[in-house]
Amino acid sequence: MQFALPPRKSPHPLPSVHSSRLPYYRKKQLKTVALFAIAVLVIIFLLPKLFSSSPISSAAPAGTAGVVIVTLLDRDNLSEGYIQKIVSNREDYAKRHGYTNFFANTSDYSDAVGDSPNSWALIPAVRHAMATYPRSAYYFHLSPHALIMNPSKSLKSHILDKSRLESLMLKDLPVVPPDSIIKTFSHLKEKDIDFIATQDSTDISPASFILKNGDFARFFLDFWFEPLFRNYKFVKAEVHGLDHIMQWHPTVLARTALVPQRLLNAYSKDSSGASADGSYKDGDFLIRFPACDSSPAGPPHDCGEMESYYMIWQRKVQNE
Ligand SMILES: *[C@@H]1O[C@H](CO)[C@@H](O)[C@H](O)[C@H]1NC(C)=O
Ligand SMILES: *[C@@H]1O[C@H](CO)[C@@H](O)[C@H](O)[C@H]1NC(C)=O
Repeated sequence: MQFALPPRKSPHPLPSVHSSRLPYYRKKQLKTVALFAIAVLVIIFLLPKLFSSSPISSAAPAGTAGVVIVTLLDRDNLSEGYIQKIVSNREDYAKRHGYTNFFANTSDYSDAVGDSPNSWALIPAVRHAMATYPRSAYYFHLSPHALIMNPSKSLKSHILDKSRLESLMLKDLPVVPPDSIIKTFSHLKEKDIDFIATQDSTDISPASFILKNGDFARFFLDFWFEPLFRNYKFVKAEVHGLDHIMQWHPTVLARTALVPQRLLNAYSKDSSGASADGSYKDGDFLIRFPACDSSPAGPPHDCGEMESYYMIWQRKVQNE
């Protein structure tokens, strides 16, 4: 007879044959020695922590510092003039705060993305930035259809500071708007957070997010980019992939902070789909033009709405 699956082992493996052969008193001796050893180890490792004043968890993995801004440019489909504007906007911002820019090229990831929509390329692009700048504490992914409008705000003071982030985190809110039954956790602290993003009126948005360097970041990007998800043909590709992961994998949600949309992802007035208070207002950190993500492709394609904001930004920077 054939079994479709191998017969299961007992879920609670019995103690190995070896130890059960030992005489009773010998086992007891071993147990005492083991308990003593554990007690010594506990004292050695725990005492210094109990009596030291420094917190056990740090803001970022040891030895890392700074922020890398990841902008993915589709050089086949964006005009040279448009790219220059985005690059100068990012360079101005990075220079003010000592951040590093990583301008990735969509075409470099076409093999990795395969038959799936090009928009998935943002994930290997961030992974590429991590490999290129492994000592950076944070990676800030920002869509090429976005402008930083208030460059004096550092990411630290704007979002990342411990008490600031804890006050911004949206708690007990539907993970996917408007009414997912899965809610963001209420008990998370800043030290638990590795991924910071926003929601618009229908989804968690991958167009602008901050990822903290570390094992979680690598796992999360590799997981999100799994062929299983990419080949599933989600209607909104990597956007729905992210919605799916957040709703079905509490392990990932437990390391995620959703913050109000305008902090990191304010929508321009021509773009539909902003959350209740998600449309750009003067003074906001950045403005995004999601309508331009889906404007007719084919070289060269620009983002008309961006021009007027680019001029406002340029005047502001020149007058400083
Ligand atoms: C993207 O392409 C530009 C222009 O060819 C190049 O300067 C840049 O280094 C490329 N970026 C990466 C991350 O390879
Ligand atoms: C440019 O856009 C076209 C049409 O959407 C697409 O087929 C092509 O793959 C794009 N190029 C890149 C490098 O993404």
